[in-house]
Amino acid sequence: MCRFIFYLSLCVSLIDCVEWSLSILRDIGEVICPQLARFEAINKIIQLDYDSDRNRDCDSSCADSLVVAEIITALREHWDEANARVLQRKAQLDAMLGDSQRYEARRRDADAWLSRMETRLAGMTPPGHTADVLEMQLREQKSFHAEVHQYKHQIELFGQLTQRLIAVYRNDDTTRIKRATESINHRYNELNNSIIARGKALHSAVSSLQNFDRSLEKFVAWLSEAESLLDAAERDPHLLKRSVAKDLTLPFHLKLHLTLNHALHELPFCNADSLIVGLL
Ligand SMILES: *[C@@H]1O[C@H](CO)[C@@H](O)[C@H](O)[C@H]1NC(C)=O
Repeated sequence: MCRFIFYLSLCVSLIDCVEWSLSILRDIGEVICPQLARFEAINKIIQLDYDSDRNRDCDSSCADSLVVAEIITALREHWDEANARVLQRKAQLDAMLGDSQRYEARRRDADAWLSRMETRLAGMTPPGHTADVLEMQLREQKSFHAEVHQYKHQIELFGQLTQRLIAVYRNDDTTRIKRATESINHRYNELNNSIIARGKALHSAVSSLQNFDRSLEKFVAWLSEAESLLDAAERDPHLLKRSVAKDLTLPFHLKLHLTLNHALHELPFCNADSLIVGLL
């Protein structure tokens, strides 16, 4: 009996231990119940014997029977008391098992969802360097972010379930579920932070592209001005000498240099060689 109670209070971990405790309860019930029934049958015989001999003086064997009857009555009370505690604990363990299974099912759902999203995030390509690609990537980022946001409700419900279990089973060890929930929350926050960071990177790539487009536009505008200056200079050799040196060659170098620098600085993901080839 003591061993029995000891085992019951040893239930430390919500998920692993509940099934085990229930099986111990069943085993012990199977051992104790038939024994108790036997004791009670004996008790009844002794009582009948005593009742029928009520008028007889109680000799030594009658006195022995009375002692045994008292012991059995005490045992019965002890068993009833223990049994009530066992039943109470069993009801608690049944509820615990149900809660553990619900918790585990929710945890698995969240884990599967997070894994799917983490894989999708890991498969996203770096920000592109054309408007088309960036636009597609921004659409993808937005819908991903919306999905993450929608799932927040599930994460909150899961957190509430965890808090409820910790409160209900404050006498049992809930470290494992605390840790499992923390890990889910951590992964969710990482996912949220990563997709926000990707949004920032994509927006900055878009504005770099726009800046670059503007500086390229300016450069091209300057080039066409320079061309007409060259045309004019070709018709006037005096002008040609001076203009090419002063108005065209030096500014051309400077502007080309600036534009390229701008491109390389703002668009670090562009291949410098292909840019230069594209420009010249
Ligand atoms: C994602 O993170 C941002 C900034 O850290 C925060 O403001 C926002 O509430 C988070 N979103 C979700 C759905 O948790």
